[in-house]
Amino acid sequence: MPSILHCMDCAQQYPIQRVIYTCEVCGGLLDVKHDFGGERISRQLFDGRLGGLDAPFASGVWRYKELVYPGIGDRSIVSGMEGNTNLYPLPRAAAYAGVDAIYLKHEGENPTGSFKDRGMTTGVTQAKALGMTRVACASTGNTSASMASYAARADMQGIIFLQDQQIALGKLAQGIAFGATCLQINADFDRNMELVQLVSERLGIYVLNSVNPFRLEGQKSIMFEALQQLRWRTPDWIVVPGGNLGNSSAFGKGLLEMYEVGLIDRLPRLAIVQAEGANPLYRHFRAGFKNFEPVKAETIATAIKIGNPVNLQKAIRALEWTSGVVEEVSDQQIMDAKAVIDSAGIGCEPASACSLAGTKKLVERGVIKRGDSVLGVLTGHVLKDPEATIGYHADRLEGIAPSYRNQMLQAADDIEAIVKLLS
Ligand code: F0G
Repeated sequence: MPSILHCMDCAQQYPIQRVIYTCEVCGGLLDVKHDFGGERISRQLFDGRLGGLDAPFASGVWRYKELVYPGIGDRSIVSGMEGNTNLYPLPRAAAYAGVDAIYLKHEGENPTGSFKDRGMTTGVTQAKALGMTRVACASTGNTSASMASYAARADMQGIIFLQDQQIALGKLAQGIAFGATCLQINADFDRNMELVQLVSERLGIYVLNSVNPFRLEGQKSIMFEALQQLRWRTPDWIVVPGGNLGNSSAFGKGLLEMYEVGLIDRLPRLAIVQAEGANPLYRHFRAGFKNFEPVKAETIATAIKIGNPVNLQKAIRALEWTSGVVEEVSDQQIMDAKAVIDSAGIGCEPASACSLAGTKKLVERGVIKRGDSVLGVLTGHVLKDPEATIGYHADRLEGIAPSYRNQMLQAADDIEAIVKLLS
């Protein structure tokens, strides 16, 4: 049986050739559902592909093709050799969080510097299969950088809807450099998300935000690869930042599928971490998932400055499948945790540091135990947001104290003075 689109709420099905993002019957979110029955999925299959140099299996997404998009022809795949990111055991971060060991999977090591490339290779591959020539997204910056890159590779026009303020410089530069049509709009991410869907429907443009279920199929591979790097041993916790909740949703789906096909023998618990100023899922979780209310988002972690996440229902489902929890952290906690990760020589952008800041808070609250094994996901590269990093160390961020400051020194052009300063 080929893959199909399947409504998560009412189980209505649609062929994957349809350009559709939500259920026509009930408005629910759609999943891409594959038939794994006919596939020879095993640890040996994926282990055997490690170290290979040829497309598509050399990609850290397409290595798991049988779980990602089994029916697509290899030659139709638009790939930038994404994935293959490092999993760092980081004692400094573990000590900071109060656990014996933490592994940080650095998705900033993807081609455009964020995990979005994993979802964009599948999303743009589907766009090409559908014969699309124009693709669009609303973005806090990383999705747009990634989409611009993959659209360029596939000779498509990329159109990006950006808030006219607060997009990190590195991300804006990428969108422009990769040749996308960049629309700066006087609206926040949540409004841009509505606009891109309405405009795209009018003009027949393919939407590549994570409301597109093909995006999530690629992002599942973060879990496949991390678990393979752990020799298929399940950690106790997976900790991930939450914004539009695409990653959290993809992790839930990917983990459950791995369990169902027998690649892992138990499920880890998922911890989704939001910024205090952009915490709609956290509030909803605390209220027992009753009466969801969007928030007006504000945080230094601009990547997750999102108040009305499109994947809310899939993220709730992922929490239910994995006995998951939701935590919130302050901008101060985010920037301190970032400084700790940065000072280990690894580095990440502010939103990514939610993984470590959230682990620390969950340990303090007794939810994560000292001896638990924790895998945190670093979602974006340190160079994405240089203003936040320099602002912290220069003590120029309003309301944030640089607790882990690396202060810049000033010296005159004078050998004696420099020697004295360094002695
Ligand atoms: N971390 C980074 C660095 C991100 O760019 C994003 C999302 C997230 C975490 C949150 O992931 O949305 O799957 O919950 N950035 C999107 C963008 C919204 O437009 O680049 P999520």
